Amino acid sequence: MSFFPHGFAEAFLSRVASVVGGGEGVVPLHEPDLGEAERRSVLACLESTFVSTVGEHTPRFERLLADYVGCREAVGMVNGTAALHMCLLGAGVRPGDEVVLPSLSFVATANAVGYCGAVPHFADVEPQTLCLCPDRLRDHLRRHVDRRPDGAFNKETSRRVAALVPMHAFGHPAKLDDLRALCVEYGLALVEDAAQALGTRLDGRGVGAFGLCGALSFNGNKIITTGGGGAVLTDDPELAAWIRHTAATAKKPHPWKFSHDQPGFNYRLPNLNASLGIPQLRRIEELVAAKRRLAAAYAAAFADIAQCRFVAERPEARSNYWLCTVVLDPRGELGDRAEELRAEVLAAAHGRGLLLRPVWEPLHTLPMYRRCPKGDLGVTEFLAPRIVNLPSSSHLGRALPGDGTA
Ligand SMILES: Cc1ncc(COP(=O)(O)O)c(C=O)c1O
Repeated sequence: MSFFPHGFAEAFLSRVASVVGGGEGVVPLHEPDLGEAERRSVLACLESTFVSTVGEHTPRFERLLADYVGCREAVGMVNGTAALHMCLLGAGVRPGDEVVLPSLSFVATANAVGYCGAVPHFADVEPQTLCLCPDRLRDHLRRHVDRRPDGAFNKETSRRVAALVPMHAFGHPAKLDDLRALCVEYGLALVEDAAQALGTRLDGRGVGAFGLCGALSFNGNKIITTGGGGAVLTDDPELAAWIRHTAATAKKPHPWKFSHDQPGFNYRLPNLNASLGIPQLRRIEELVAAKRRLAAAYAAAFADIAQCRFVAERPEARSNYWLCTVVLDPRGELGDRAEELRAEVLAAAHGRGLLLRPVWEPLHTLPMYRRCPKGDLGVTEFLAPRIVNLPSSSHLGRALPGDGTA
């Protein structure tokens, strides 16, 4: 096909290499950015011997995090999946409920719903943000969900629809104002999956607590890391207190007695992990700036290839550009052959040590979620074979010029 000339993969990779180099070893998709401050903080924690559930680093990290995002409370969790699980339980999601979420997400978003005994209900995304599409969702809810005084109910399954979980894909924020309005109309709890989006702002405000609560991840591949870790963000102090208690085995405070007042989880962020998080969080704006410079360089490098669309932030958003993203064949000229082209690009890239990655398989296609309720997922199905993530470590952007406007 003439539109995609022979050698497209090479042309694509030359653009990537023009930004990050190539040919001298491996360029991973994402590496943690750790320095002397991190080493000192972790060593100090080790020397204190408070490496686990007790210690001063976890509460300090939580305070810094809430202040940075601009919400009232942050509760440190052992990982982002546990944070999402606690958010959903705190939002009142019960066994047999349905929770609406994008099919285009990492599997943890749906798994956390399953941990509550609830059922994922998949909705479509929009091409621009790669996040839940408010217009398509409104249309879907009008047709398939009944708003009654006792809640919202799926007309086909009769199950209660309890919550909506937008996910901020690769750091680009979902359209939270429109989604929040839908939640109000249908009486749904708004729980953000902000695992990828620490440092992302919408209308000047950090994402994660636009609704009832939200979850962050500090896995080693995220913009800041605590090794493994996560947090719940919320403006509701009672909810934060309930999560703090329930995630710490629901143990009643007492100097020596072991007494628990409800079933709980062992989900709290250990002090040792928080000791790594504090210096990481102190550098977050530097890391975001480096990633934004990297994004600006990729955007410029791909500007002249009509067969690619670099995913850029919209004016009201400041993306953290956690993973820089290109959509191949954005107008669909290749039809079913887009996935073949992407496979060619990925194979050539890995052959050169450039560890590009395809987006996740849509959740509604995974064996355990195939029979879950869903809307029309046309945009998800169009995008899934076309999305490629580019090497996005912050150190790649540090030496680049510019103010980081992609
Ligand atoms: C969208 C999304 N949700 C949830 C998670 C889960 O976070 P964790 O790996 O810390 O459990 C991730 C992690 O990659 C994620 O990308």
